[in-house]
Amino acid sequence: MAGMKRVLSGIQPTGEIHIGNYLGAIKQWIELGEKLGREALFTIVDYHALTNPAAYDPALLPKRTFEAALANIAAGLDPERVTLFVQSHVPEHTELSWVFTTQTPLGDLFRMTQFKDKAKKQKSVPAGLLMYPVLQAADILLYKADTVPVGEDQLQHLELTREIARRFNRTFGETFPEPKALLNPKAPRVPGIDGKAKMSKSLGNTIGILEEPSSIWEKLRTAPTDPARVKRSDPGEPTRCLIWRYHTYFSPPELVKEVIEPECRRAGIGCVECKRMLFDSMMKELGPIQERAAELKAHPERVLEGLEEGRKRAAAIAEPVMEEVREKIGLMRPGSRPWED
Ligand code: TRP
Ligand code: SF4
Repeated sequence: MAGMKRVLSGIQPTGEIHIGNYLGAIKQWIELGEKLGREALFTIVDYHALTNPAAYDPALLPKRTFEAALANIAAGLDPERVTLFVQSHVPEHTELSWVFTTQTPLGDLFRMTQFKDKAKKQKSVPAGLLMYPVLQAADILLYKADTVPVGEDQLQHLELTREIARRFNRTFGETFPEPKALLNPKAPRVPGIDGKAKMSKSLGNTIGILEEPSSIWEKLRTAPTDPARVKRSDPGEPTRCLIWRYHTYFSPPELVKEVIEPECRRAGIGCVECKRMLFDSMMKELGPIQERAAELKAHPERVLEGLEEGRKRAAAIAEPVMEEVREKIGLMRPGSRPWED
């Protein structure tokens, strides 16, 4: 974490933010924002969303982009403090992306695991899916960010970003730093409410941070527990139980150690009671987020103002970097006099 001067991360504007995103990423961004203020940049990557056929609908994209901003602000990313902006509001992202596209070997892109996985699922693969990590590199290098908080699935894209920076520097002269990935070892991989796979929108096993409390309770109530507890009097093993895991994310450690674990093992509490306690702990954290979201929905102009402030701060960094790139790659600048040298 030392030496970290500017961080950048990207957020897809796809659907509702769930507790997996919240615990795994957003909480860390909030912490980084507290340390770095406006040098912590968070961008809602709407141009990336265009490559995702499940998420992309031109009629819904503006709403989803706005809602992603609102949810992140409600969760605690304060746009007065950090730089929160929409990728397409700073057109230099796509401009730099094209420059990198001309300098990146196809082979590097075909190797990307995420490309291979996503391409398999589509009949016709858009070229944008292949170029996705090039745009991601542009998101990062446009700000000369040194640190990129990401999940493990993005490490390969980060390595490619570093390679793109190195290659550019070699060809056109020292320009970009090589950004480092920041993996959060404390970030849990939150299992879905089905107890089977990692929580993910596409699997439909999520709990949204802005979901109605009654709906959250319904999901907890019907969630699987330790299969050994068939009857209320059967003792259980909490570490085998999804509900216990969620307790470790949301309940005070004393409650988990001193109540949930021993009482489960000696059948002192029933699973419904245990779930009730979890629900209370979760709503203690999500309640204030939901209140802020309701407040922002009543005053949507606050979200717009935050995004406009973010756009201005981002553009103030991006525009001179892009001009530096245009000059270095040898574009004739307007009004320049190439015959003179
Ligand atoms: N590809 C990232 C993801 O799916 C999102 C992203 C786009 C990103 N641009 C970025 C992440 C820049 C970090 C930095 O999660
Ligand atoms: Fe899981 Fe709690 Fe039931 Fe134990 S008491 S099995 S931890 S829900």
